Amino acid sequence: SGPKVLAGRRVIVTSGPTHEPIDPVRYLANRSSGRQGHAIATACAAAGADVTLVSGPVTVPDPAGVRTIAVETASQMLEAVEASLPADVAVMAAAVADWRVASASERKLKKPADGAPPVLELVENPDILATIGRHHTLRPRLVVGFAAETDDLLENALSKLARKGADFIVANDVSPATGVMGGEANTVRIVTPDGNEEWPKMSKIEVADRLVARIAASLDKPESG
Ligand code: C5P
Repeated sequence: SGPKVLAGRRVIVTSGPTHEPIDPVRYLANRSSGRQGHAIATACAAAGADVTLVSGPVTVPDPAGVRTIAVETASQMLEAVEASLPADVAVMAAAVADWRVASASERKLKKPADGAPPVLELVENPDILATIGRHHTLRPRLVVGFAAETDDLLENALSKLARKGADFIVANDVSPATGVMGGEANTVRIVTPDGNEEWPKMSKIEVADRLVARIAASLDKPESG
């Protein structure tokens, strides 16, 4: 294994989608595979970090040498992340559902006799990245978010950086033609308050390795993130 550039560091990573229940058998979800977040947790552990991975439902295996906490909903993910603080670094790679059903039914919804489909009322989920990035007492030194966009990648990443209190945004183009969502490869741009770097197309594992090197370099700088 490579140099232990994150030895002695505590890292929290979120990964995967969240599932937001509609009733006991149905849920709202998204196409996130968890591959990128799990690769980041694996790379942090390989670099010597003490890693807690908070993951939504995924089919990829739990990484070796990592404390994995399995959750389903955004609310559970936030609770697990807060319970895992303090940390030196937080990497929020999960594709958290923006909304949940306002009051999930305790019973399976049935097709009514008159045929009118149910209307789902949605409410906003907590923003885990913003909660951690703006944490008053336990903000990690380095907070990293992702921005999966189909349009206006850079503008959206810059506004996310400010709005969510992140130090880096890893911005990726998830237009269907790129095959990023659910695929093996990724093309990302690292957006920071001091500028941004475009990385060539590479595997999600290589993105994770480079991100670890970038995080370690930031932590080793005496000043800020
Ligand atoms: O606003 P948007 O969902 O595009 O922001 C993406 C970033 O914010 C990702 O890092 C994601 O993990 C994080 N996020 C979060 N909680 C939410 C929504 C997004 O942590 N409810």
